[in-house]
Amino acid sequence: SALAESGQLAGKRVFIRSDLNVPFDDEGNISEDTRIRASVPAIQMALGAGAAVMVTSHLGRPTEGTLNPEDSLAPIAVRLTELLGKPVKLVQNWVDGVTVAPGEVVLLENCRVNKGEKKNDAVLSKKMAALCDVYVNDAFGTAHRAEATTYGIAEYAPIACAGPLLAAELDALGKALQAPKRPLVAIVGGSKVSTKLSILQSLADKVDQLVVGGGIANTFMLAEGMAIGKSLAEPEQVDQARAVIDKMKARGAAVPIPVDVVCAKEFSATAAATTKSASNVAGDDLIFDIGPVSRAQLVEILKNAGTIVWNGPLGVFEFDAFAKGTEVISQAIADSAGFSIAGGGDTLAAIAKFNITDKVGYISTGGGAFLEYLEGKVLPAVDILQKRA
Ligand code: 3PG
Repeated sequence: SALAESGQLAGKRVFIRSDLNVPFDDEGNISEDTRIRASVPAIQMALGAGAAVMVTSHLGRPTEGTLNPEDSLAPIAVRLTELLGKPVKLVQNWVDGVTVAPGEVVLLENCRVNKGEKKNDAVLSKKMAALCDVYVNDAFGTAHRAEATTYGIAEYAPIACAGPLLAAELDALGKALQAPKRPLVAIVGGSKVSTKLSILQSLADKVDQLVVGGGIANTFMLAEGMAIGKSLAEPEQVDQARAVIDKMKARGAAVPIPVDVVCAKEFSATAAATTKSASNVAGDDLIFDIGPVSRAQLVEILKNAGTIVWNGPLGVFEFDAFAKGTEVISQAIADSAGFSIAGGGDTLAAIAKFNITDKVGYISTGGGAFLEYLEGKVLPAVDILQKRA
């Protein structure tokens, strides 16, 4: 933004790496466009400054060298055209040269189709760098990947800098984690401890309350010696869960374990839901949500929180009978006076479903990148920008 405001971008070729990797429904329509909308300010800023703008992104994980129709950014070009109110032409085979005039914007087809993108090939990166005067990384969602459009190009472009979205993400996440207002409460839901073990371990060093949800909570219940029937869990992760609980306790911090749960006998939207004490789970029960007493306890914790970090739902919120835990928590986050920050695909879906988008302090566009940042890992795409700065 400083470059744009200084007038230095007029007539310059600006290459923006965005993360436009959005979900599609079965009919091939964009089902959630947060990332596309979030990419607009950087593009507008460059256009407004008189630059010739190229934007690219990956979509999915295509085979390099082949562009299958489902990997094309064509629907995204249409959506960007609507959002920007000006034509956004999609350009194929762009690595060796792009024609774009100042004040115009083109979308460069799925960058992961280019051979060498994923392994950050130097020849490819140099060719891309030669397309522009200024490289802007605005793709927080892909900042944990060292690929040609997120890393290599930043090494070789004449100028490399962060776009407004990337800068805002780092600012908000830094605020939440570097000097958080306490109590700092993290909510980590989802199905598996194994996929979130390193984040749980790292949060156990920092947060005052670590609220676990979904299958992760089931594994923590096992670690506390509780019966969970046939519920989704990872018995092989029980020792790790125990270690997280012990680490938290040693710091005088807590991992609230559900005291009541909502169970069913089968995984279905129409399954009969039964609320019971967490000490009363039967051998054939499947836990799909937390019960009202646990919800009330979490609401109390969230009411007093100075900072809330949220990733992952508390139950099977896609089914109404098991959505209450995630809904009540969403509302408590919305009502909290603390600074809240949320990220991850399922979390964004819950935020949209329970209509709290405007009440969350900051909604990250990152999934894996959000988690890696929370873990305290260096994000390669940010690292290279810092080296260039
Ligand atoms: C995401 O959706 O988390 C990002 O777009 C990164 O996608 P990737 O995991 O395929 O690199």
